[in-house]
Amino acid sequence: MRYRKLGSSDLSVSEISLGSWLTYGVGVDRDNAAACVRRALELGVNLIDTANVYGRGAAESFLGEALAGVPRQSYVLATKLMGDMGGGDKGLSRAQVFKQIDASLTRLKVDYVDLYQCHRYDPETPLEETMEALSEVVRQGKARYLGFSEWSPQNIRDAFALPGVERFVSSQPQYSLLWRRPEKEVIPLCAEKGVSQIVWSPLAQGVLSGKYLPGDAPAAGTRAASDSMGAPIKGWMRPETLEAVQKLKPLAAEAGCTLAQFALAWVLREPNVASAIVGASRPQQVDDNCAASGLVIDPALFARAEAIVAGVPAR
Ligand SMILES: NC(=O)c1ccc[n+]([C@@H]2O[C@H](COP(=O)([O-])OP(=O)(O)OC[C@H]3O[C@@H](n4cnc5c(N)ncnc54)[C@H](OP(=O)(O)O)[C@@H]3O)[C@@H](O)[C@H]2O)c1
Repeated sequence: MRYRKLGSSDLSVSEISLGSWLTYGVGVDRDNAAACVRRALELGVNLIDTANVYGRGAAESFLGEALAGVPRQSYVLATKLMGDMGGGDKGLSRAQVFKQIDASLTRLKVDYVDLYQCHRYDPETPLEETMEALSEVVRQGKARYLGFSEWSPQNIRDAFALPGVERFVSSQPQYSLLWRRPEKEVIPLCAEKGVSQIVWSPLAQGVLSGKYLPGDAPAAGTRAASDSMGAPIKGWMRPETLEAVQKLKPLAAEAGCTLAQFALAWVLREPNVASAIVGASRPQQVDDNCAASGLVIDPALFARAEAIVAGVPAR
């Protein structure tokens, strides 16, 4: 496993990290989930990403148990706030920042998180209020660094223009061969501000592994076939998307790797990406995905892949 520096922080994060949306505490059984976490740590994954809202606390509670006994300084723990936790608890107000960090720390059974991320921008709360509260959380030692997810370039500029507050070190956008929007503005702006990308759905929820064949029903045991996890992947399951992805397979074969590895190596070709956050429902997927770190792939193959998927409609 190779590691990259996370923005202007002193954190070094694994190029492949482990996510927990839809999977842990929700759609993946506990034994497989625990086996994925163990395998990831064995293979050098040190960044674990979660959020208060994943399974309304269930993903954090699962990780609190799965990571118990693992030396705290050996992994980088990232969580998020903003989403609806029920009972009116949502958003980035001062009161919510203080309430949600404590609830996350309790579920995760830790004294601090390494990265505390705003899951989205909160238009209902003044940005100054959010940034001042988050800065207090850092000064109290409950979070080491701050990040955001899917903020607009203007939101990012506004946060950096505020005096006397902690600076963001990470951005968490969707980014994959099928979703290249951050390239236009977010990545160049972040590179200038000392902010790295840790990207979500780098496999387009599994579609970029090539396992979904156009015209065939998804195989049992996949996210697309799952009652509890299958809704968000639907936009990627159009025949034209699945056909284009099948055309990528010979390129991965030419590169001598699996299509999942090819797709992960593609996001990692961007120097501003510090880590690809990948979900996994079984440890074999963790093995497959971790082998993408350090792969050297001819840029001409990536260019051909980009041309193949260029016309694919966004999900
Ligand atoms: N900030 C945000 O708003 C946001 C949004 C979404 C996600 N995230 C974060 O990003 C993480 C990753 O996102 P994601 O899970 O949506 O997308 P992903 O990593 O692109 O896809 C993960 C899913 O693909 C399948 N898979 C993984 N590796 C595979 C392989 N080698 N071969 C075949 N199938 C494979 C597994 O599903 P099956 O085995 O069930 O098919 C797995 O759960 C999340 O866990 C979360 O931490 C953040």
